[in-house]
Amino acid sequence: MKANRQPLRDRDLYPEGYTDERDTTEVPNGVRLQKVLAQAGVASRRACEEMIGDGRVTVDGQVVRRFGAKVDPAKQVIHVDGKRIPTAPDLVYYALNKPIGVVSTMNDPQGRPCLADYVEELAPRLFHVGRLDTETEGLLLLTNDGELANRLTHPSYGVQKKYWAKVPGPISRDLGRRLKQGVELEDGIARADSFTVVQEHGQQALVEVVLHEGRNHVVRRMLEESGHRVIDLARIEFGPVKLGRTKPGTVRALTLKEVGDLYAAVKL
Ligand code: URA
Repeated sequence: MKANRQPLRDRDLYPEGYTDERDTTEVPNGVRLQKVLAQAGVASRRACEEMIGDGRVTVDGQVVRRFGAKVDPAKQVIHVDGKRIPTAPDLVYYALNKPIGVVSTMNDPQGRPCLADYVEELAPRLFHVGRLDTETEGLLLLTNDGELANRLTHPSYGVQKKYWAKVPGPISRDLGRRLKQGVELEDGIARADSFTVVQEHGQQALVEVVLHEGRNHVVRRMLEESGHRVIDLARIEFGPVKLGRTKPGTVRALTLKEVGDLYAAVKL
């Protein structure tokens, strides 16, 4: 008698309630998942294989454990331990410490120093994520990942930026409360998420202001409106990315972790 041989299905292989792990990743001309992860800088190929085997890797939202699964690194969304891994080979992410006097555009018809002077060689079609005033220095992100750049500047994602401002002292005790309550500006109220006095030396003080909006000159205007005309202003953080030791006029590539944290900050 002929055996009635049916292909095995997931429900035969896995007990009831076993959710994950349907592996749909078989992309024609795809690249092996462990190779993609290793090339992105996650770990060695061997270590990446272990991560895959341990169920720590998802592709387009599904856990993939199958050895040898192939993916399209340019199109598929890959997470390790819940963190998005940038795998598209042509996407780049940089942090520039914009010096004072540089305009936040890729070219300046008036011939002033601009961002292209610092990043032109790095990749074609880089976007700067928001702007800094010409007189403000500090952290400016640049990428050719348009979706990420859009979300980082969109107010609905509320990504926080941290600024240090040198202002005339003394600082009144209620300045922080006033900034957090909201300062009336000509284009509407602006509120700080947090405020700290970093240093105070008689006539001058260094204050830290965190806010999640990006209107023109907003920090300068808020402080001026509160009686403290800004002497110097620097942005030192943008969401999860810190300026750190990046010197004015220098650019560095963001780390894998920083890019993953930026994705997470805008739910990508
Ligand atoms: N607020 C300012 O006043 N200037 C900047 O460049 C950024 C925020």
